[in-house]
Amino acid sequence: MTDCLGDGEGAKTPMELYEELTAQGDQVRALKTAKAEKTEIEAAVQLLIKLKVDYKQVAGQDYKAGCPPSENSVAPDNGPAASGGDDEDTVDPWNVSTTNAKGVDYDKLIVRFGSSKIDKELVDRIEKVAGQRPHHFLRRGIFFSHRDMHQVLDAYEKQKSFYLYTGRGPSSESMHVGHLIPFIFTKWLQDVFDIPLVIQLTDDEKYLWKDLTLEDCHHFAVENAKDIIACGFDVNKTFIFSDLDYMGASPEFYRNVVKIQKHVTFNQVKGIFGFTDSDCIGKISFPAIQAAPSFSNSFPQIFGSRKDIQCLIPCAIDQDPYFRMTRDVAPRIGYPKPALLHSTFFPALQGAQTKMSASDANSSIFLTDTPKQIKNKINKHAFSGGKDTVEEHRQDGGNPDVDVSFMYLTFFLEDDEQLEKIRQDYASGALLTGELKKILIETLQPMIAQHQERRKQVTDETVKQFMTPRRLNFHF
Ligand code: TYM
Repeated sequence: MTDCLGDGEGAKTPMELYEELTAQGDQVRALKTAKAEKTEIEAAVQLLIKLKVDYKQVAGQDYKAGCPPSENSVAPDNGPAASGGDDEDTVDPWNVSTTNAKGVDYDKLIVRFGSSKIDKELVDRIEKVAGQRPHHFLRRGIFFSHRDMHQVLDAYEKQKSFYLYTGRGPSSESMHVGHLIPFIFTKWLQDVFDIPLVIQLTDDEKYLWKDLTLEDCHHFAVENAKDIIACGFDVNKTFIFSDLDYMGASPEFYRNVVKIQKHVTFNQVKGIFGFTDSDCIGKISFPAIQAAPSFSNSFPQIFGSRKDIQCLIPCAIDQDPYFRMTRDVAPRIGYPKPALLHSTFFPALQGAQTKMSASDANSSIFLTDTPKQIKNKINKHAFSGGKDTVEEHRQDGGNPDVDVSFMYLTFFLEDDEQLEKIRQDYASGALLTGELKKILIETLQPMIAQHQERRKQVTDETVKQFMTPRRLNFHF
């Protein structure tokens, strides 16, 4: 440990103790959920109590889940995964859940994660700098949180370019519509700012976390690349890579992975990701691999030896724990911190208590679904904010804030006026649930059919072009 950070046992900072406590709290909950032996649970609880006493001594305050010690300079960027107290929403790279039918409380999440709200001032500034009407994901608060976006714009105004980095964990052959959100937005950013884009396919991550073979994961990476390419990315400006291929092919990338590994302790990743002693070491060191593309010299074929090019990462906020870690480590290894734009979650069909997830087929509309499947899934599973009977609905109106079909339309119906009219008609009772679902079906069916058509045009040769390490159409 001392080799890594000079932080030997016995000299723990408030933040380290805080992270340890958070991980221990998760461990106690996991043991209780798994109905572990009483003695094992008691031992874990005793350790939790001891850590709380230690924390109070060192930090001078009681431990409170989700509230990192304020005096620590890296606290806002280095908080734990937001799965703290019992009354709080759970948001981490593997779980998203809330008891609120309206979905996760994103304002609270901003405070807990220490990020900044994308307010009107920032949206207006993006419009000014980009010279384009902001994407409806920005106008409607779907991308709602950021880190350092003003800094990116300041630099861009001074003719300093930046690059985009996003990714996908290829856990199955097909992606769902929720996965499109960051890619649609990334494409818009690439078009308006005219900058390079790197897309990481973490086939290694999925091998480590899921019951899949390496061959399956690599195959899914290539299949998912086709869906990503079908979003319309420009081959001259975009590099897509599978970790399983690129880690071995790029010494510069691997060097950055190792640098990051040396500067992050097990305690830190336990605090951030909730890893336990029984997690395999592949998982524990994986965050360094997702962090490495945030540094431009991981891609010498694109950026030469430049290590100072700012990175901007669009993603849903579940991925933020990786980048809190990255931002914490960046200055210590001589690199700029990546900036971020965070989106809300595209909800599961059953309701906004959880996100759409590929591991639950009934919760999702897949990019491979037929028009009939789309129609059946929406009619059968989409949670309705409507009333039980037509009479009641006409009289009292529906609740668009909890209605999944309405929520999906906020993501995919581009016309602001039409969307507002639908909201008002649904709330007044003029529009029935069946009619609202029909509008959604008629919005999604052609959108997904067009995606499937574009995907069909993506040949193996095209995928190879995107996935070959090469210079892009930029000069650095
Ligand atoms: P993955 O495959 O879980 O998700 C891919 C991208 O989609 C976002 N996402 C969603 N967005 C809105 N609504 C949803 N229901 C929803 N589900 C997933 C994720 O936030 C992500 O942006 N470890 C990552 C892969 C990765 C990555 C990255 C992602 C590697 N490097 C850099 C973002 C940025 C993963 O498994 O993503």
